[in-house]
Amino acid sequence: MGRDFYSKSFFAVDDAKIPTPEGVKSCCIVVRDGKIDGLVSSPPASVEAVYDAKGALALPGLIDMHAHLRDWEYGYKEDFASGTASALAGGFTTVVDMPNTKPPVDTAQLLRRRIIDASQRIYVDVGFYAFPTKGLEEVRRLAAAGALGFKVFTYEMSWQDVEEVMANVSRTSSLLLIHAEDAEVLERRRAAAKKLGREDVASHPWLRPKKAETVAVEKALELAHKTGCRLHICHVTTTDSAHLVQKWRQIGVQASCEVTPHHLMLDASAIRRLGGIAITNPPLRSLREVRSLWRCVGEGLVDALVTDHAPHALSEKLVDKICDIRPGIPGFETALPLMLTAAFRRRISLSKLVDMMCRKPAEILGLRDRGLLARGSRADLVLVDASERFRVNSSRFLSKAKYSPFDGIEVVGRVKAVFVRGTLAFEDGEVLVKKGFGEVVEPRRQELRR
Ligand code: NCD
Ligand code: ZN
Ligand code: ZN
Repeated sequence: MGRDFYSKSFFAVDDAKIPTPEGVKSCCIVVRDGKIDGLVSSPPASVEAVYDAKGALALPGLIDMHAHLRDWEYGYKEDFASGTASALAGGFTTVVDMPNTKPPVDTAQLLRRRIIDASQRIYVDVGFYAFPTKGLEEVRRLAAAGALGFKVFTYEMSWQDVEEVMANVSRTSSLLLIHAEDAEVLERRRAAAKKLGREDVASHPWLRPKKAETVAVEKALELAHKTGCRLHICHVTTTDSAHLVQKWRQIGVQASCEVTPHHLMLDASAIRRLGGIAITNPPLRSLREVRSLWRCVGEGLVDALVTDHAPHALSEKLVDKICDIRPGIPGFETALPLMLTAAFRRRISLSKLVDMMCRKPAEILGLRDRGLLARGSRADLVLVDASERFRVNSSRFLSKAKYSPFDGIEVVGRVKAVFVRGTLAFEDGEVLVKKGFGEVVEPRRQELRR
């Protein structure tokens, strides 16, 4: 179908299967002017064209609320074009970019520069987080300039500074995302490792123990309670973290949390096998912890599934000393097949998968017309052949990071086609839209308190 289909404004996607809480249902999705017009049983006679989904699974365009698109001075790792092409190939139509770029996004001036640079190069929609570390006035300016939320790495600052940042972010009624690992716990392990001369890759989980995470999660939740800040905990890897979020939520804290496919699908034994390729922060945990983390997902304690797509050059991963390895795993092109494979094995239902990869991220970020297959929503759609089995092959990634800890494993669920705002943007491995087709996602204006 490809290019012929490129820009029809009123069409139907027929013979699609959509996941619902009651199971998968066959349906026809009608699209008009970039929005979903309705879900019907067969294509209305008045449409300009019909796209035959051939029984593919249709999901709302995936929303990744935690990704690193890099660009700027880290453009050798990934840039706006390669990163968003990779996202598109993975079924993501909206991604939100983390501010740990070079230079870091911590002023409104830099955020505006990033928005301008991105808008010329992105294939899918992109929102931006910023660092709230330059005082209240700058936080206000960043919110006004379009930051979708703010991010801090707790191990880079004192808890007193985290508290100040939370107070400032809460005054813009924005969201604070945190990478929760406690500086003191990490420092104690680092000092001990130095004494013992431990610098091998396998010591990574020991260097960054579960305690570093749970101490930071608890402290952050306490401070969110005190300051009234809306808090989102990035990549939880322990059941304690998930339970703490639930506990403080019951006390009235507005908190949410996320998990990544790699923390669900891999355990620490992968580090011995794969070395630097399996190094990410927080670290991969024991098989026992991974199993319990799945239970937390099952119990609904984890809100969102994110990729934490964190590409680095291969040469930055293949080094001997743990302190020299750049942490992070590229995730856009494996997340959906990995999760569909888990669904296939009945570890998660399809409707929960859609909840965690679409509806919940949209809700947490306040993106009202995304993440749902419903009348009036943006026509962001991903069609997946749920019966196709294949092996992960990172050499074919559109990301610049052509490696993966999942290389060679068998998965189900190939992304066949992706529609962005009703335009067929990707089909059978090929990107069909131009750079700059993606739009910058800004927060809803009425939500900003100045
Ligand atoms: C991320 C990166 O490379 O930017 N690395 C990682 O190990 N996850 C940073 C982060 O999300 O902590
Ligand atoms: Zn992180
Ligand atoms: Zn990250």
